[in-house]
Amino acid sequence: LGHGTVGSALVRLIDQQHDTISTRNGVDLVVSKIAVRDISKHHGLTSARILTDDPWSIVRDPEIDLVVEVMGGVESTLPLVLTALEHGKPVITANKELLAAHGATLFAAAETAGVDLLFEASVCGGIPVVRPMRESLRGEPIRRVLGIMNGTTNYILTKMSEDGAAYHDALREAQELGFAEADPSADVDGHDAAAKLSILASTAFGMTISAADVHREGITALDPGDISIARRLGYEVKLVGIAEQGDDGSVLARVHLVMVPQGHPLAAVRGSYNAVVIDGQYSGTLMFYGRGAGGEPTASAVLGDVIDASLNLLRSTCAGMGRLQPAHLESMSSSSGEYLVPLEVADEPGVLHVVSGVFARHGVSIAAAEQDRVGSVARLVFLTHRADEDSVQACLTELRMLPIVGRVGGVLRVLGE
Ligand code: NDP
Ligand code: HSE
Repeated sequence: LGHGTVGSALVRLIDQQHDTISTRNGVDLVVSKIAVRDISKHHGLTSARILTDDPWSIVRDPEIDLVVEVMGGVESTLPLVLTALEHGKPVITANKELLAAHGATLFAAAETAGVDLLFEASVCGGIPVVRPMRESLRGEPIRRVLGIMNGTTNYILTKMSEDGAAYHDALREAQELGFAEADPSADVDGHDAAAKLSILASTAFGMTISAADVHREGITALDPGDISIARRLGYEVKLVGIAEQGDDGSVLARVHLVMVPQGHPLAAVRGSYNAVVIDGQYSGTLMFYGRGAGGEPTASAVLGDVIDASLNLLRSTCAGMGRLQPAHLESMSSSSGEYLVPLEVADEPGVLHVVSGVFARHGVSIAAAEQDRVGSVARLVFLTHRADEDSVQACLTELRMLPIVGRVGGVLRVLGE
C-alpha cells in the first residue's frame, strides 16, 4: 500500500536484494501488487503494470501473503490494515500516526489473527530501535527513553544555531530535502515526535500510550537570541521527546525544547539525524543514532521487518507485543526541573526588582541572571534552580500580564538526569 518516497525505495531494495535474501533466508519475496492513489502519476515505471488504485483489492486478495503499509493517513488506512490482519496477512507499517492513534486496536487485531504487525520504520526511519527494545531489552526494566525523533526540526535548529539561519529559510530547506511532512506543522508543532515517542513508550513500558497522552510543545516560539544565550551557557537547544517511568510505575511522556549540555551525546546530533537514548536499570545507557527519515533508510527498516514476518509466516508463528497494560500517566504539571526564562522588559529603574519579585512569589529560585540591551529594551535571562513546572508556569503567566514586560520568550527546560 503506497509507492511514494518509502514505497518506491522499498520496491527497488527488494529488487536489488532479492537473490541475497532468498539465499540467506530461503524467502522468495515477490511484489505482486502496489496500491497508489493516482496510477497516471506512475506511468513509465517498471512496476507500473502491478499498480492498482484499489487498496481493498490487495488486503482481500487470498494470493497475497503479506502487506506493507507505506501510504500514510489514519482514518482511511485503519480499516485496510485491520482487514489485512483479519485475513491472516502480517502487516509491516511505517505509519507512526496510525499506530500512535490506534495502536491498541491494531495490536489486539494482530494478536487475535495470530500474525505479525511490525513497525520498526515508524520510529526514526532507518534506526533499529524498536526491535532491540522488543527483543534484546525484553527483560530490562527501562527507566527512561529520550531522543531527537524528528529530522526536520533538528535540521531547522541546527541551521539556526550554527549558521544563524532564519526559521522559515531553514524550514524551506528541510522541505526541499524531503524530510518534512506534507503539513509542516506535524514536524514543527511536535506532533510527529509525539507520535514516535508514544510508540517507543508503549514498547518500553508495556502500556498503551497514545500521541494524545504526550505533552507536546513545538519550536515555533523559539527566538534565535534564545539559542545564542543557551549556547553561551554551554547548551545546545534541541526538540527532545522524553518518556520516563517513576517508582510508582506511572509514565510522564513529553516533547518540548530542551537545553542539552554540550557534553551530552544528544548535543552532537546535528542536521536531519536522529538519536534515541535508552536508560535501563541493568543495561545502563544505550544510544541508537542514524538517519531518521528518507526513502532508503526507512525502506531498509521496512525490509528487515518484511523478512522477519515472512520467516514467521513460514514457521506459522508471530512476534506479539505482549500484554499491554492501560496507561498509568503522570501529568506535565507534576514535573520539575531547571528552566531558562528569557524576557524583554522596559529598561527603567525598579524593573528587575519587580520581575525578580514575581519569581520569588511563586517560589522559583534564580540560579543565574544576565541582562543586555537590545535597541530600547533590556533583555533579561534567568536560569532557575530546580523548580516545579506549575510554579514556573504561574510565574510566566504573571510576568506576561506586567506592562513592563514586552516579551516572555519560549521557556527552555534543562535536560536533567
Ligand atoms: P508519500 O506521500 O511519498 O507516498 C504515499 C504513497 O501512498 C503514494 O504512492 C500515494 O499514491 C499512496 N497513497 C496515499 N493514499 C492512498 C490511498 N488512499 N489509496 C492508495 N494509495 C494511497 O509518503 P512517504 O512514502 O513519505 O510516507 C509513507 C509512510 O511512511 C507515512 O506513514 C510516513 O509517515 C512514513 N514514514 C516516512 C518517512 C520518510 O522519510 N518519508 C520516514 C518514516 C516513516 P500516489 O503516489 O498516487 O500519490
Ligand atoms: N518528517 C519526519 C522527520 C519524517 O522530519 O523526522 C520521518 O518520520
